[in-house]
Amino acid sequence: MALMLRNAHVIDPQVGLNQVCDILIRDGRIVELGKDLVLPKGIERDLKGKIVVPGLVDVHVHLREPGYEYKEDIASGTRAAAHGGFTGVCAMPNTQPTTDNATVVEYVQAQAAKVGKCRVYPSGACTVGLKGETLAEIGDMVAHGAVAFTDDGRGVQDSGMMRRVMDYARPFGKVVMSHCQDEALVGKGQINEGAVSTKLGLQGWPAAGEELQIQRDIELSRLTGCPIHIQHISSARGLEMVRRGKADGIQVTCEVTPHHLFLDETNIGPEYNANLKVNPPLRTAEDRAALVQGLLDGTIDCIVTDHAPHAAHEKDREFEQAPFGMTGIETVLGAMLTNLVRPGVISWERLVELMAVNPRAILRLEPVKLEPGSVADLTVIDPDLEWDVLEQDFLSKSKNCGFTGAHFVGKATHVYVGGYATMEEGEIVE
Ligand code: DOR
Ligand code: ZN
Repeated sequence: MALMLRNAHVIDPQVGLNQVCDILIRDGRIVELGKDLVLPKGIERDLKGKIVVPGLVDVHVHLREPGYEYKEDIASGTRAAAHGGFTGVCAMPNTQPTTDNATVVEYVQAQAAKVGKCRVYPSGACTVGLKGETLAEIGDMVAHGAVAFTDDGRGVQDSGMMRRVMDYARPFGKVVMSHCQDEALVGKGQINEGAVSTKLGLQGWPAAGEELQIQRDIELSRLTGCPIHIQHISSARGLEMVRRGKADGIQVTCEVTPHHLFLDETNIGPEYNANLKVNPPLRTAEDRAALVQGLLDGTIDCIVTDHAPHAAHEKDREFEQAPFGMTGIETVLGAMLTNLVRPGVISWERLVELMAVNPRAILRLEPVKLEPGSVADLTVIDPDLEWDVLEQDFLSKSKNCGFTGAHFVGKATHVYVGGYATMEEGEIVE
C-alpha cells in the first residue's frame, strides 16, 4: 500500500531539511521526497500548512498495565500518546507485578501489538520489585525486548547495587535510567524544600536529595563505563553536574519534563492543587530558568512527560495523601510549541532533536530520518491550531494534568507509524 503526503513542510535536522515537498511511503518506509511526485495508485493526503517531522518518542511514560488498569492501560495510554503526536513510548516498569522479568516484558509487548496505537518500548526494573535488594534478570529481559533499565518511581538506594546494575547492563549495550532520590534525605517530603513548603506547611523534598544521586550515578558511570540517563532533572545544581560530567567525557544524558520547565513551586499556592504534586517536585523559578538554558546549550538531551496517570479518587484527597505524578502526553507538544518554539526560544530543529532524534539515540533505537529508506514513523503538526486544554478532550483514563485550562497554539493532527495512520485530522484511526 502506498501513501502520498503532499505539500508537507518537512523539518529534519539530521538531513538538513526545512522545505515544502511531497513524501511517498510504501511498505512502511519512505521511498522518495521531492516536488510533484507521481502516485499511480494509493492514498493521498494534502498536508498544506502542516509541518512533518520524524515521529515523536517519549522515553518516560507510565502505561500502568499490568496491575493499575483503573489509572491507565496500554490501549488508553497509547491512544493518548498518538493523540499527543507520539509514534513511540518507553513504558516504565513500576507495574503490578513489576516489569522485572521476561514474562512481564513479553506481556507488555504482546498487549501493545494487540491494542496499541503507538510503538511501545518496554523498560525493565533494575532490581526485583523495585526494592533495591536483588538484581533483576537484566540479560533475560534484554533477550525478550527490554530497551533500558530503571527503578523509576524510586532511586536505587545502595551504591553497590547501582554499580552492579550498571556492570550488568553495560555489556548488553543498554542504558540505565536513574530516578534520583535519596530516600533517607527526602523522607516524606511533599514539595520542594524552601520558603514555599514552610508557608504551605508541607514537608520539604530538598533538591540535594536528587543531586546526591545524580553525582553518584555520574561517578558510577565513570567507574563502570555504562551509559547513565538522568530522569526528570529538576534542579540547576543537578543540571550543572550533568554539564560537568559531559565535559569530562562521561556517557551521561538527561531529560526534563514540561512541568519542571513551565511550572514552579509557586504555582501550588493555597489551593493545594494535588495535580501539581510530582516527584521530583516543582522547584524554584531559578531552577526553571536554568533548565531552559540547559535545553539551549545541549546539556538536556530530551523532553519527556513522565506521564503518570492517577485516578480522581486518589488525587482528590489531602495533599499529603495524594500520589505523586501528573499526566502530560497529550499536552507536551502544545506546551513546547507555545512556550518555546513560537516565541523563538528554541528552533523547530532543536524541538525535533529533543523529541524525536535524541530519545531514539538514548534508547539505542533505529533512527528515523526524513530520507528514502527510513521507517515511516511521522508526526504531522498544525503550527497555528489554537486549542484549550480541557479535561473532556483527554484520551487518557486519568485527568490529573497540571496544564488543564491552558491555551496552546500548535497541535499534532496526524500520526503515521510504519506508514499506517494512527491519527488523522485529530481523530484516532481505529
Ligand atoms: O511523579 C511521579 N510519578 N514521579 C515518578 O517518578 C513516578 C510517577 C508515578 O509512577 O506515578
Ligand atoms: Zn521518576
